[in-house]
Amino acid sequence: MPGDVTIGIHDLSLATARYVLTHETLAAQNGANVAKYHRGIGQHSMSVPAADEDIVTMAADAAAPIVARHGADRIRTVVFATETSVDQSKAAGVYVHSLLGLPSAARVVELKQACYSGTAALQFAIGLVHRDPSQQVLVIASDVSRYELGTAGEATQGAAAVAMLVGADPALVRIEKQSGVFTADIMDFWRPNYLTTALVDGRESISAYLQAVEGTWKDYTERGGRALDEFSAFCYHQPFTKMAYKAHRHLLQHCGHATDEGEITRAIGHTTAYNAEIGNSYTASMYVGLAALLDHADDLTGRAIGFLSYGSGSVAEFFAGTVVPGYRAQLRSDAHREAISRREKIGYTKYRELHERSFPVDGGDHPVPTETTGPYRLVGLSSHKRIYATR
Ligand code: CAA
Repeated sequence: MPGDVTIGIHDLSLATARYVLTHETLAAQNGANVAKYHRGIGQHSMSVPAADEDIVTMAADAAAPIVARHGADRIRTVVFATETSVDQSKAAGVYVHSLLGLPSAARVVELKQACYSGTAALQFAIGLVHRDPSQQVLVIASDVSRYELGTAGEATQGAAAVAMLVGADPALVRIEKQSGVFTADIMDFWRPNYLTTALVDGRESISAYLQAVEGTWKDYTERGGRALDEFSAFCYHQPFTKMAYKAHRHLLQHCGHATDEGEITRAIGHTTAYNAEIGNSYTASMYVGLAALLDHADDLTGRAIGFLSYGSGSVAEFFAGTVVPGYRAQLRSDAHREAISRREKIGYTKYRELHERSFPVDGGDHPVPTETTGPYRLVGLSSHKRIYATR
């Protein structure tokens, strides 16, 4: 077994949806003070998928540039993390495997545990690469966050996918071995199979998250993890960006550190740049935060980053990564900014129409109008089968 191989994120690419709803538009509709959204929860807009976009099209959009850059020869595993599953049996990653023309000599699987499963996918990928460092694993986290119209959660919707190539001698971030994990059986946020929108106990979910921060940190330190002041930045799961501030403040207090707001902003400010515009992307959210950090921060070479991945229900993990020399040459900053800035603003009526859209369940032919400007689209549903195509 190779003992000293370094493993981590070799490449990272994000994609989001065609449309964007601003919080000004939402506030004008529901009468909220927009400052509650901008300052209170730290959100400015949310990505809204077009009728022919979903977790598969966003995932393929995110992963295609990675395959174009590195080829697919070494990818023997695709792990797709989501809580917006499109099928109870078939892994969404199989559609992506087909759209990207990945080798048939590959395994593809889907993972679920709320927003945490992207991190489970990363850790499982590291295990596979450790067993055979010549292999690479394509990890994809893709989600569409949806709450009922008119609920408190509505302002925290969003959509995005992050694809990561995990391998030996990574070009971006080495993932360290120590990791703190935590599980508690809590009903803070969930979605029964018969609902298309999530149920949430907002306040309970925030305290469950903070409890998980303490739990993961305790396990992380007991396993010989780094001291808090060794980290240059922290990537938190961001259901809304102010949650990252709450979580970091809580961790500092828990560890007996001062909670200087300037210091907190220095530690996490850059990680919120994309999430504030995209909204909650569940499994992808923390990795959208990592993309924003790498794209916006001054040189992070050799610096340690702390990651806190939280998934309601609840499972969480704290782990560390070190930024690799030369990482800046690998970044996709322009493409990431472009994916966010090219979204088309929609009004409340269009947003509501998309929110309420669902397929008939009669097994008939149900084509979907062409709306996406992305490279892949959901063509329709026929005989209960989803049909995807390259646009
Ligand atoms: N100007 C500035 N700030 C304002 C304001 C104004 N005019 N009006 C209100 N605020 C502030 C409030 O003081 C509050 O800040 P604090 O939390 O720091 O006190 C903030 O804006 C939000 O206000 P409310 O608490 O009154 O908002 P709300 O009750 O409408 O809902 C919420 C907030 C509970 C987060 C809700 O958006 C929600 O249910 N979201 C979904 C659940 C969620 O995201 N939970 C997070 C943890 S769970 C998780 O992480 C998993 C996941 O992805 C879902």
